[in-house]
Amino acid sequence: MSENSGHWDAELFRREGHRMIDWIAEYLDGGARELPVLSRVEPGEVSGRLPSVMPETAEDPEAVWRDFEEIVLPGVTHWNHPGFMAYFGITGSGPGILGELLSAALNVNGMLWRTCPSATELEQVVLDWLRDGLGLPEGLFAFLCDTASISSLLALAAAREAADPEVRRLGMAGRDDLAPLRVYASDQAHSSIAKACLTLGFGLEGFRAVAHDEEYRMDPEALARAIAADREAGFRPLAVVATVGTTSTTSVDPVPAIAEICAAEGLWLHVDAAYAGSAAICPEHRWCLDGCDQADSFVFNPHKWLFTPIDASALYTRHPEIFKRAFSLVPEYLMTPVSGQVVDLMDYGVQLGRRFRALKMWWVLRSFGAEGVRVRIRRHVELARAFADWVDAGPTFERLAPVPFSVVCFRARPPGVDDPEALDSFNMELLEHVNASGEIFLSHTRLDDGIALRVAIGNLGTTQVDLDRCRELLTEGVQCLSTL
Ligand SMILES: Cc1ncc(COP(=O)(O)O)c(C=O)c1O
Repeated sequence: MSENSGHWDAELFRREGHRMIDWIAEYLDGGARELPVLSRVEPGEVSGRLPSVMPETAEDPEAVWRDFEEIVLPGVTHWNHPGFMAYFGITGSGPGILGELLSAALNVNGMLWRTCPSATELEQVVLDWLRDGLGLPEGLFAFLCDTASISSLLALAAAREAADPEVRRLGMAGRDDLAPLRVYASDQAHSSIAKACLTLGFGLEGFRAVAHDEEYRMDPEALARAIAADREAGFRPLAVVATVGTTSTTSVDPVPAIAEICAAEGLWLHVDAAYAGSAAICPEHRWCLDGCDQADSFVFNPHKWLFTPIDASALYTRHPEIFKRAFSLVPEYLMTPVSGQVVDLMDYGVQLGRRFRALKMWWVLRSFGAEGVRVRIRRHVELARAFADWVDAGPTFERLAPVPFSVVCFRARPPGVDDPEALDSFNMELLEHVNASGEIFLSHTRLDDGIALRVAIGNLGTTQVDLDRCRELLTEGVQCLSTL
């Protein structure tokens, strides 16, 4: 076989590895900024430039690099770009990237404690550090999932197990003894909650959206009324999902009041803090987790605001035994001499195989330290507040929601555009104007007043200069669109 037979020899690996690390170092050190943050390719353009059959023989690494740079890279929207302020800004930090690389090299499958004791134990240690760092109660059990969507799905499956252990044996279909189940969340909750209801067989009817108040927080009185009405109508209330940091505005549901209702009604309380949970590492933001000590389960995503490359979602629970009851199913070939004496992470969810995600998180936390994380989160919040002040200061823009963390919801209010539909269209065009620049990428949402643009700060490279540029593009866009 040739030197390059696919599984490279050490020398070729080293050469290609150095090339790749050099490329990444430049990308992180300003290189990303030179590329359009939002990919400009047309649908089908990337696949159209790639061969439709796989290579029959080993290809030259040069050719692969060339195609990466010429074909793949133009089709990348750069989430690691300082101008990325859409959805939630995120960062794959240097230590996280290298931790990911190392975990690929080890290529372990942490399905059982025995298949990689460090994968299981590092996961427990890192999540305990974060539990304490966020001020969550001691004694919570935790494990990593890929995404908050899956964490919430597993939590609601555990809630179902707690409510009716017969579901494991009998399922739910055709049972006279099981009333239709209902899950409650605010109408601002992430769509993953309704999706979990679909997946678990509750149907969309099994999801009930509760009204929000003037600051986009769940109205606990509306929740109590919904539960009472549903009991009356023959539904079986199962769980409430409170959101700390909603997707549109980052509002924080009143968890203490919701927890009280859950306790009185015997409902599972799941808290979705996917984005904002990380902020609780700063004492001044710790308030956002008030009441979360009462939660039966709690999720936050280190891949959102803890500088960890996608994916990593941390799921905490007071009831590991219920998760185990819901999910553990151990065939002979997965038995080990220590089964039952150790934590086998396959027992707590659907998946068997499991990546060594804790390694990158460990690398991130040791490299930043809690204080390093706090400094960066504070900086993002300061940048967002300064942007909100600018929105508030002039007549051209108006803010559409409070700014508890690092996301600002606002819209342009050009003179003479008052009709709600015209205002929405104007703002959507303004969004496209900014996004066409290639320097800044923003996204939008719909709030009570109409379409809102969102500036979401979360990338470690983002500075005041990027926000100044964002302001310029917005101002220039309003001028351009107003003269059309
Ligand atoms: C509050 C909230 N929950 C859940 C999610 C879904 O996250 P994931 O992509 O990890 O499933 C998001 C995504 O933005 C979110 O904002």
